[in-house]
Amino acid sequence: MSVNPNMDLTTVVDVTLTPEEKSAMDEVLSANRDRPGATMLVLTLVQEKVGYISPPMQAYIAKALGVPLSHIYGVLTFYSSFRMVPLGRHKISICLGTACYVRGGPMLIEKYQQVLGVKMGETTEDNRFTLEICRCVGACSQAPVVMIDEDILGRVSPADVSKSLRKYE
Ligand code: FES
Repeated sequence: MSVNPNMDLTTVVDVTLTPEEKSAMDEVLSANRDRPGATMLVLTLVQEKVGYISPPMQAYIAKALGVPLSHIYGVLTFYSSFRMVPLGRHKISICLGTACYVRGGPMLIEKYQQVLGVKMGETTEDNRFTLEICRCVGACSQAPVVMIDEDILGRVSPADVSKSLRKYE
């Protein structure tokens, strides 16, 4: 997309925000923008309310706080608890604890990515699944383990991957 250098970027950001995103950010910003070190607090509270901090939201917050966009992006990428995309309806967590790692966890990552057409940390276009890595979930005897929402699937092989998704709409 080419960008007109005379275009008001504030407007561009505004039109790509949903009303819910904008009102949640405005509420958090008006209560916290003048606090020392507000960036971390604002990002944490916005994520609690909305669930993610998308690129247009990052631009909006950077402008409101008067900090560079690169600063906001740096904080979001440094702390793994922040998300930049919405969560899908179902979260698939592939365990990469030691037992699951040595028993095929990395192969499951490849297979889920291939079947869903997304990379780790991403959400499918239909918003059905978000793919993530997790640490040991305490079911090492069933390694390799995959969690889909609250369900724990044990001894998963790459051949089981497509079948494992069927019941989640
Ligand atoms: S290492 Fe995966 S469940 Fe323990």
